[in-house]
Amino acid sequence: MAELALSDQVFTRIRGLMHESIGLDLAPHKRTLVSARLGPRIQRLGLSDFDDYLARVCSDSDGGEFQMMVDLLTTHETYFFREPKHFDVMVSELQARRPSGVRVWSAASSFGDEAYTIAMLLSELAAKRTIGAEWSVLGTDISDRVLHSAKEGIYPAERLRHVTEPRLKRFCLQGHGEAEGLVAMRPELKSRVSFGHLNLCHSVEGVGLFDIVFLRNVLIYFDGPTKSEVVDRVLGQLKPGGLFFIGSAEGRVPCSASLQSLIPGAFRKV
Ligand SMILES: C[S@@+](CC[C@H](N)C(=O)[O-])C[C@H]1O[C@@H](n2cnc3c(N)ncnc32)[C@H](O)[C@@H]1O
Repeated sequence: MAELALSDQVFTRIRGLMHESIGLDLAPHKRTLVSARLGPRIQRLGLSDFDDYLARVCSDSDGGEFQMMVDLLTTHETYFFREPKHFDVMVSELQARRPSGVRVWSAASSFGDEAYTIAMLLSELAAKRTIGAEWSVLGTDISDRVLHSAKEGIYPAERLRHVTEPRLKRFCLQGHGEAEGLVAMRPELKSRVSFGHLNLCHSVEGVGLFDIVFLRNVLIYFDGPTKSEVVDRVLGQLKPGGLFFIGSAEGRVPCSASLQSLIPGAFRKV
C-alpha cells in the first residue's frame, strides 16, 4: 500500500494538538515516526489522508480516536522490577522508618508492571510487620487501553523475567492450556492496587497525598517547561520527607520543591 504524505502544515497541527492536550513534545525530526505510526491507522479506517484523520480525531464525540492517536504516538514500554535500585531504596527506607501505613503512586503506570512490583514488595514488608497493614498502590496513566490491561493484571511471562521464583509462586498464577505463557496477578495482590485515568498535564490534586511517588520514564515526552510543571504538580502530592523516583537516565529536572538526591533518579522531598 502506498505511504501517505504528511505535509508540514498537518504535522504542525498534530504537534500543536499533542502538546496542548498531553504535553507531548514532537520535535521536527519525529515527523517520520508520526507518519509511520499513524499511516497504517488511517488506511485501516479507510480515510484518504492525514487531514481527514485529524478531522475524525477532533470530531469524535467520545474521544476514542483521540485516545487511539495518543496511544500510537506514545511508548508504553515497561516491565516488572525495572531499574531495581529504586526498589532497593524504597525497601531500605521503609525498613528504617517502619510506618504504620504506606500509600504509593505509580504516575504514568502504563500496563501496571511497576505498580504490581511495588505491591509485591509492600506485601512482603507487611507480612514481616515492617510496615503496617494499611498499604496501597495507585497507578494512573493517560491511556485507557493500558489501564484496562493493568486492571486485568495478566501479562506475557517474559515481562516478569526479573521476578524471582518465590515471588512468582506467592503473587502470581501461571496460565495453562490456552493461557500457557501468561501470568496473572493473584486476587490478594490485585485488591491492593487500583488504577485510574489521569493526565499529568492537568490538575492532579484529586489523587490525594502519597508517601512515595514513582514518575519514571514519562518526562522524556515533555519539553523543558512542561517537565518542570509536571514535576511540581506531582511533588505537590508527595508528603514532606517522601521518596520521589524518575527514570535514572532522565537527569535532574528543575522544580520548585527542594529535593535531596539519593541515587540517580531517586530523591527525598525535603
Ligand atoms: C514508558 S511508559 C512508563 C511506564 C513505567 N512508569 C516504567 O517506568 O516502566 C510511559 C507512560 O506514560 C504515559 N503518558 C504519556 N503522557 C502522559 C500524560 N500526559 N499523563 C499521564 N500519562 C502519560 C503513556 O501512556 C505511557 O504509558
